[in-house]
Amino acid sequence: MASAANLPASVEALSLQSTTRTSKFAGCFPSLNPMDIYREHIAEELGKATGIDSEKIYARLAWTNTLDKGDLSLALMSRRSHQAPALQIKKNPQELAKELAEKFPQSDLIQPPTYFGTHMQFFCKPRPLANTVLRRILTEKSAYGTNGNQGLKDPSDPSKGQKKIIIEFSSPNIAKPFHAGHLRSTIIGGFLANVHTVMGWDVVKMNYLGDWGKQYGLLANGYKYFGNEEALTKDPINHLFDVYVKVNRIVGDQEKPIEDFKNQIKSKKEKSEDVSELEAELAKLVDVSEDEKARRYFKSMEDGDQDALALWRRFRDLSIEKYKQTYARLNIDFDAYSGESQVKGESMTAAYEAMEKAGVSEKSEGAVIVDFTKHGAKKLGKAIIVRKDGTPLYLTRDIGAITEREEEYHFDKMIYVVAMQQDLHLAQLFKITELMGHKDLASRCQHINFGMVRGMSTRKGTVKFLDDILRDVGEKMHEVMKKNEVKYQQVEDPVQTADTLGITAVMVQDMTGKRINGYDFNLDAMTSFEGDTGPYLQYAHARLCSMTRKSGLNVDELSTANFDLLTEQHAVDLIRLLAQWPDVLLQTAKTLEPITVLSYLFRMTHMLSSSYEVLNVINSEPELKKARMALYASARQVLNNGMRVLGLNPVERR
Ligand code: ARG
Repeated sequence: MASAANLPASVEALSLQSTTRTSKFAGCFPSLNPMDIYREHIAEELGKATGIDSEKIYARLAWTNTLDKGDLSLALMSRRSHQAPALQIKKNPQELAKELAEKFPQSDLIQPPTYFGTHMQFFCKPRPLANTVLRRILTEKSAYGTNGNQGLKDPSDPSKGQKKIIIEFSSPNIAKPFHAGHLRSTIIGGFLANVHTVMGWDVVKMNYLGDWGKQYGLLANGYKYFGNEEALTKDPINHLFDVYVKVNRIVGDQEKPIEDFKNQIKSKKEKSEDVSELEAELAKLVDVSEDEKARRYFKSMEDGDQDALALWRRFRDLSIEKYKQTYARLNIDFDAYSGESQVKGESMTAAYEAMEKAGVSEKSEGAVIVDFTKHGAKKLGKAIIVRKDGTPLYLTRDIGAITEREEEYHFDKMIYVVAMQQDLHLAQLFKITELMGHKDLASRCQHINFGMVRGMSTRKGTVKFLDDILRDVGEKMHEVMKKNEVKYQQVEDPVQTADTLGITAVMVQDMTGKRINGYDFNLDAMTSFEGDTGPYLQYAHARLCSMTRKSGLNVDELSTANFDLLTEQHAVDLIRLLAQWPDVLLQTAKTLEPITVLSYLFRMTHMLSSSYEVLNVINSEPELKKARMALYASARQVLNNGMRVLGLNPVERR
């Protein structure tokens, strides 16, 4: 379980909360989100001046995507039906905007409002904003922007505890390649776990391994021919894959003669010739085939044969140990390694019974199926639940697993992070759950899907495992770094830095764009220091760190700087952007899209790079130097917080 103790230290710190001041407005936490101070103020003042219900105003005060539209804007007409409906006042919205703007009283916090079309725009007065936001960032540090109330069962009564979420992600298959789909699931799942953690949820990170089925019988037999103890303990993932490939080759070689026999029998039968001899020979051939041996071996595993299970368990344990090391490089640790093998027979039997009782399943040619077309879900087609030979399938195990998880965890929400190729599978799973009578359970589950990565291959061939990808990107990153000789000389541990930057490169490329879009795996583009890339983001962070070091100022004293000195437009805008971070995180908890965070961070890094010349630190007078350094240190903190939510390891030097 995600107790504070086993969270990565960085994320744990992010979830520390200061004491909360509550507000009469729902979802308003002025002590966590500085913009809520402004929302509260505007709603109250505008309400008093106009007689409009202040709660209605509050609910419609939205943050803006570009600063020229103000810090908060109030839509007087809703364009899209899913947005909160406009204030219901029968008046031309343009005129209303003008009228309301004129009625807004003098304020210490807000400039006289402007209006644009059907929107009122509110700009914060720079001084009070700077004093609130920068002081908070510098004192709250990694907790700035987090909101532990979001994950409470009842925000007005913390003693009722946190909501629990299971995030199932990564879920590779033992002895098979860790493909791009697993990579994306790992990156997106890790991000989702971080978002929910900083939003106060109790997060269970679960890895549902593909570790069961006939192929593990095949693997076990293959190990008897090709296995090597030393290779297994040294590199279980690659070794098991090798064994699997080799034994699969045998299966392939044996398929042809079996197929030939079958064809011969067929044509003889057509001519009404005697086939009994041929059939006997075929039976012998099948009997000694690897495929049949695998089936028998797996049957013994299913029947609980301890020897058979011991070997399989070793493969599984060793693979998990290795996976753990690789996940650690991505700042990910799982709370539970479950998997297809862990689903209990009883759960599946109970599911069969429930389905039968509810009239969901039916017999069809000896198998048990669900025909969704008969249950108002035409698009979902038909699915087999139990094969003719009585064995369960991938879907069947998921049905068993969903009810087991419900019982074990009593979760409020569960997310499956799986590629869109499995849209149908998960839709079928949720529908069956619902049809079995667990409508409420189904409604708490969500499939977070994503598009395909094209062309993920290394220079040495196709990628097999996560480690190969990370090694390759690290090497490429190292080459890119070497191109700038002067800077390269200053890097303390180039290999380590290249490794971290490489991982960032892969992750940022993956998070650029909406999840549903696929992308081309492009080593050159992702490792570039130019453009909106991972290395560029790291560079921006490292630059702020080096500026702090060179300033010679004590970071812990920066919160006492005189923020009134930050009057230039560049400074004001940067502060306004930093003020948005808590809202960006809240928005992210809704979109569940890494790009919501990432595009904010790039807006900030662009703004920073155009500020350095205008807002010089080193050559400024002491007081101004301290104020500007406080601004940059705040930007570094927010950049750091954002990067950590994405699962990146911010570097301090490069
Ligand atoms: N192991 C599966 C695969 O590689 C993904 C598992 C997804 N999760 C689930 N509950 N079915 O395709």
